Amino acid sequence: MGLASARQTQLNPVIGTEIQGLDLNQLDEAMAGELRALLAERSVLVIRDQALDREAHKRVARIFGTGVLHQHALGSARGSDDPEVYPVRTNAASKITAGEGWHTDVSCDPAPIAASLLYMHEMPEHGGGDTLYSSMAECFTRLSPPLKELARNLKATHDGAFPYRTIYGIEPSAGTHYNKTVHPLVIRHPVSGKDILWINRGFTTRIEGVSHHENRGLMELFFQHIENTLTAQCRVRWEAGTLTIWDNVATQHHAVWDYYPESRYGERISVIGPEIHAA
Ligand code: SIN
Repeated sequence: MGLASARQTQLNPVIGTEIQGLDLNQLDEAMAGELRALLAERSVLVIRDQALDREAHKRVARIFGTGVLHQHALGSARGSDDPEVYPVRTNAASKITAGEGWHTDVSCDPAPIAASLLYMHEMPEHGGGDTLYSSMAECFTRLSPPLKELARNLKATHDGAFPYRTIYGIEPSAGTHYNKTVHPLVIRHPVSGKDILWINRGFTTRIEGVSHHENRGLMELFFQHIENTLTAQCRVRWEAGTLTIWDNVATQHHAVWDYYPESRYGERISVIGPEIHAA
């Protein structure tokens, strides 16, 4: 039973589709092809009522990108018992929560994550814990023509040390360092071919080739454009058993921590994509 017999509801015209009545344990080639096509079109898929063990979760992840699962640099420090599974756990003892702020997962890598799949196990009893997503194709489209032209001529550094050291306070393990990569500010999406605005508050530290104060002003201009372009955004309300798949090259996301001191727990599996190139 594939997507044709499932109920699909768009979260808004631009981004996000909710799917009910699909059983990902029945994944086969036909369903995989349908999910890849729908993700390329809608960027975020919210699939309700799943009963996935880790193997089934990994099987779904492997249908995207290169099929190679990502191992997060902070995995073991954040309590992971499987290098391919990144725990997203927040409770009364947490000082920070994963992903609270607009970001793209791990854009410091040379070949960024193609898709992340977060499977929710536990939600706060009294609500909250939504995640906002934003389409970076829509954000690029909504830039004015002179800003589009400027962005196409810029490159920026994405540095893992910025969030991992400065925000999470975790040093790289001995003899290793966090990834740092210079990417174009406008990239061509490897599947959809769309132009994507590729700069995020989570990882981007420096626009190359401009002065210090120009850098600060320009970065803030692009960040505020992204945050203020509400037509590009959708909001996902989770339930235990929801699997949300996001196209990590086409989107940014922001987890909302409004449920302290209650707990929320999900497991994220991400799959590496091909290298990205300027549009
Ligand atoms: C993340 O992957 O950044 C966490 C997203 C979330 O907890 O909703």
